[in-house]
Amino acid sequence: MNATSSPSRSGLDWARAQAFLARERASFARANPRSAELAAQARQHLLFGVPLHWMNDWGTPFALHVDSAQGALVIDADGHTLVDFCLGDTGAMLGHAPAPVAAALVRQATRGYTTMLATADAAAVGQALSERFGLPFWQFALSATDANRYIVRWIRAATGRQKLLVFNGCYHGTIEDVFVDLVNGQPAQRDSLLGQVHDLTEHTVVIEFNDLPALEAALKQGDVACVLAEPVMTNIGMVLPEPGYWQAAQVLIQQHGALLVMDETHTISTGPGGYARAHGIEADALVLGKPVGGGVPCAVYGMSARLAERAVKAKQDAPPGHSGIGTTLTGNMLAMAAMRATLAEVMTPAAYEHMLALSARLADGIRQTLARHALPWCVTQMGARTEFQFCPQAPRNGSEAGHALDGELEHLIHLGLLNRGVMITPFHNMMLVCPQTTVAQVEQLLTALDEVISQIKAPASR
Ligand SMILES: Cc1ncc(COP(=O)(O)O)c(C=O)c1O
Repeated sequence: MNATSSPSRSGLDWARAQAFLARERASFARANPRSAELAAQARQHLLFGVPLHWMNDWGTPFALHVDSAQGALVIDADGHTLVDFCLGDTGAMLGHAPAPVAAALVRQATRGYTTMLATADAAAVGQALSERFGLPFWQFALSATDANRYIVRWIRAATGRQKLLVFNGCYHGTIEDVFVDLVNGQPAQRDSLLGQVHDLTEHTVVIEFNDLPALEAALKQGDVACVLAEPVMTNIGMVLPEPGYWQAAQVLIQQHGALLVMDETHTISTGPGGYARAHGIEADALVLGKPVGGGVPCAVYGMSARLAERAVKAKQDAPPGHSGIGTTLTGNMLAMAAMRATLAEVMTPAAYEHMLALSARLADGIRQTLARHALPWCVTQMGARTEFQFCPQAPRNGSEAGHALDGELEHLIHLGLLNRGVMITPFHNMMLVCPQTTVAQVEQLLTALDEVISQIKAPASR
C-alpha cells in the first residue's frame, strides 16, 4: 500500500503533509537548542541516547528533555510550557506531582525508603484498596507489568492450569506471555520481541475481543487458567466492549472454571473504582499500576477471597524456596506512603467529576473538528481518556483497531501539536485530562489540532 492509498490517509494530501512535517521538524530544532544539547550529551553514555529506548518514540528529531512537571503542565529544558495530555501515558493521570503525594514523600524522605518491612501505611492501603475495588486481598509490585506477571503466576499455581487467554492486540506491559497475536487467524509470537527464546504460543491462547463464540471455544478446552484483559482495550487504540459482552463473557469464564483478571491500569480513567466496578463486572482479580502512587513507581493486585484461599494453599503446598513472585523494593516505604496519599486524597470522586466533564468536552470538540474538516476518523471517550482513530467507525476488535493505526501520520500530528504547546501520547492518539486541566487548555488543544489538520488535508476538502 502506498502512502496516499492508505485508508488512514483518506482526505489528506500526503505531499502537503510531508512538507508540513519538514517545517515542523525544523521548527522544533530551532525552538529546542537546550534539549538538543542535552540529547547530544546523553548519547555519549546512554544506549539510544535516552534512559529507556521508547523515549525516542515521540516523533521529535531528537529527545525532548524536561525540566519539571506540575499539574497539567510540563516545562521543557528550553523553558517552554507544554500542556500535557499524555500525562506519562497514565502514570500522571492525576496530575504531575500532586500536592498530597508530594507532602507524603517529603514526610517519608527522612524516615527511610526501603527496609523489606511494612509501615503503618500497609494496612491502611490494603483497606483503601478493598473498599474502592471490592476485592478483599492485595499484594504489591513496582510496575503494572510486574503486577500482571505475579497475578498470572498466582493463578496458574492456584488453578493448576497453564494457559493464559488474552485478546488480540492487547498490551499488559512487558509480561512476555501476552505477546501473541492473531495473524491470519492463527496465533503467532510477536516478531519484534528481542531475546525471546521460549515459544509463547505454547501457553498463551489469543482470540479477538467482542467474539463470544471464540471465547467459548477457547475455554471449552478446559486448560485456561485465566483471561487477562483490559475491560476496554486501550493499547491498540480504544476498543469498547459491545453491550452485554462482559456479562456473557463472565458467565462463560465461570462455567469453564477459568478466572477473570481485569487490568485496570488504563481503564482507571473511567472513575474512582475503575471500569469493572462502574459496569458491574465481578473479576476474580484486578491489576492497577501507573497512577496508583500518583506517579511514584508502584502497582497493586487484588484477589477475591476464594482466589486468595487457593493462592495461599498453593504457596503452603509448594516446596520451600523462591516463589518467583516479588522483587526486593516491592512495597517499599516510599511507594506505600505515595499510595496511601493518592488513594485518600488524590484519586477522589471530585477529581473524577472534573476530569470526566472536561474529557467529554474534549471528545465533543474533536468530533466537531473532524466533522468540519470532513475527515473519516472516529472519537472514543472512556472517562478521562479520549482518543481519535483513523477509521470512520469505532473498531470492534484488535484487528480492526490495528488496521487504523498509522505511526507516520500519528507522529506528524503529535509533532505539530507539540510545536503548538500541547503534548499527546506518542503511541496512537490518546489524550488524558487530569484534575488540574482547564477548559482553556482543552481549547488550546482543539485549536492546535484544527491548525495541524488544516495544514495536511487534501485541497479539495480544505
Ligand atoms: C493495560 C496495561 N497494563 C499494564 C501496563 C504496563 O505498565 P508498566 O509499563 O508501568 O509496567 C500497561 C502499560 O501501558 C498497560 O497499558
